[in-house]
Order: sequence, then structure tokens, then C-alpha cells
Amino acid sequence: MTQSTELSSNSSTRQDQLSSFLDIATEAACAGGAVLKFYWGNLQEVEEKRPGDLVTIADKESEAAVLAILQRHFPDHGILAEESGVLGNSESRYLWAIDPLDGTTNFAHQYPFSSVSIALLIDGIPAVGAVYDPFRDEIFRAATGLGATRNRQPIHVSKTLELSRSLLVTGFAYDRTLVEDNNYAEFCHFTHLTQGVRRGGSAAMDLAYVACGRLDGYWERGLSLWDLAAGVVIVREAGGVVTAYNGSDHIPKSGRLLATNGHLHQQMIDELALVQPLPFKFPFGR
Ligand code: IPD
Ligand code: CA
Ligand code: CA
Repeated sequence: MTQSTELSSNSSTRQDQLSSFLDIATEAACAGGAVLKFYWGNLQEVEEKRPGDLVTIADKESEAAVLAILQRHFPDHGILAEESGVLGNSESRYLWAIDPLDGTTNFAHQYPFSSVSIALLIDGIPAVGAVYDPFRDEIFRAATGLGATRNRQPIHVSKTLELSRSLLVTGFAYDRTLVEDNNYAEFCHFTHLTQGVRRGGSAAMDLAYVACGRLDGYWERGLSLWDLAAGVVIVREAGGVVTAYNGSDHIPKSGRLLATNGHLHQQMIDELALVQPLPFKFPFGR
């Protein structure tokens, strides 16, 4: 059924509308997740879009399953999907950002840490997010003003106050062997200051884990809107803070994201500003 998509100015009606968008985002994320389960351990071929950036039939069919649901409900909305690009109504104030398989490298290697990430941006601001992990059957959801949940139970960011007691996570973009600004120096810097830095391999799940307090903070450069938009809503609604590295709220365009439990936010901004790039070289000949 096609949904009416004019957002109400009445706050309780608006919350009902956001809740309805969230339910459809959830349905789409779970449909994508079913495709990932089907192809798990059963990939005949893995293509490389550019060095190190993989794509599989699971990415493509998950995206098709997600698109079928979103386009059926919202034929007049805009869409930005990782594998298909820009679709739908580019004039709409509603934009769905879809990562049908976040963590393709993990998936292709049968390392079970990947997700489907679906976000709705309204007037450019992430307002609805659903991140589904098919391996643990965990669905992380949030919409502006409605709070964040994991499997329908409320979640909250951690209470960790000091970097020295924190566990962080980060990631490395596919251009990391080509640019000096490759996040290696930041990784070393925070590894020294904290109880550890993980590299999950799925930005959407990294953000969801900050939201539910499994991790205390996350930073990464070179992200695309489909990687981050759902996780941004989930962290914010779980009580966390998400900005660019310099503290600016204009996240989606910068591609440099810092998400924390709030207590560590200024400390991480200050530390990121101190980091100097490591000497640039191609250690393995790439
Ligand atoms: C990647 C993952 C990874 C992050 C990369 C992303 P993909 O997405 O989120 O954790 O470090 O920057 O591109 O390619 O698996 O959808
Ligand atoms: Ca991604
Ligand atoms: Ca992807």
C-alpha cells in the first residue's frame, strides 16, 4: 500500500508517521537480511569494484529485496542505494539511504559480522534508521524522538567517562593505500590511549554497538551516506553524540564521523586534532 508522506505538524501524528516509516524500514532491512542468510557460505563469485572493494550477488539481491519494499510503499520518495545509485524522485524531501550489505569483505570471507542498513533522511537530516544483523538476529531501530531499541528493547549508550577505560572501534576506507590521510595514525593514537580499538568491518554495526553500550566510541573517515545514516539516528536516540571530527553537526557531507557516548566526545575531538599522519608509503607494494 502506498503511504501518505506529508509530515504532520502535530507532534503525536508526526511520531506515528515516523513510527510507520520505521516499521517499513525494518521490514526492508529484514528482507535484505533473509537474502544474506540465503547466500551465506554459498557465493560462487566475488567481484572487485576497485582494489579491495568487493561486491557479490548477495549485495545485489539484498538491495533488490529492499528496493521492492521501499518503492512499493513510497513511489514518490528519493532513494540512494549503494549498488543502484540515485533512484526515484530527486525533488522529494524524503531520501532513503540503503546499504544492502554493510561488511561485504567480512561476508565474502565468511566472517560473520555484516548488516543491512536502511535510513530515511527528511530534508537532509537522518530521521529513521534500521540496522539488521542476520547472524545474531538483532535489529537495531530508532526514529527521531522515539528512542532507540535492540530487538524492541530500549538501549542506551555506555557510561564510560575516561578514554583510558574505553573500548573504541574504527574502520579504514578502500582508498587507504592511496592516500596519506588513511586513519593509520589515528588507530595507533587511540590504541595507546584506550583499553583497545576494534575494527568491526561494518560501519552500521559499529554505530549500533556504540548505541547499545558495547562500545564507547567510533570514528572513521571516507564514509558514504548509506554507511552512516541509519547508525547516526540510532546513536543519537540512544543518548549518544554524533558529529564530524571537528564537532560540526553537518555529518553526511563530511564523510568523517565521530560517534560516542557523549562523555568521551570532546576528548576524542581534541585527540583527533592532535594526530599527525604517519609517513606515507605502500608497505605491501599496492
Ligand atoms: C564498508 C564497511 C567498513 C568500513 C568501510 C565501508 P561495505 O562498507 O562499513 O566497516 O570501514 O569504510 O565502506 O563496503 O562493506 O558496504
Ligand atoms: Ca557500507
Ligand atoms: Ca555495502
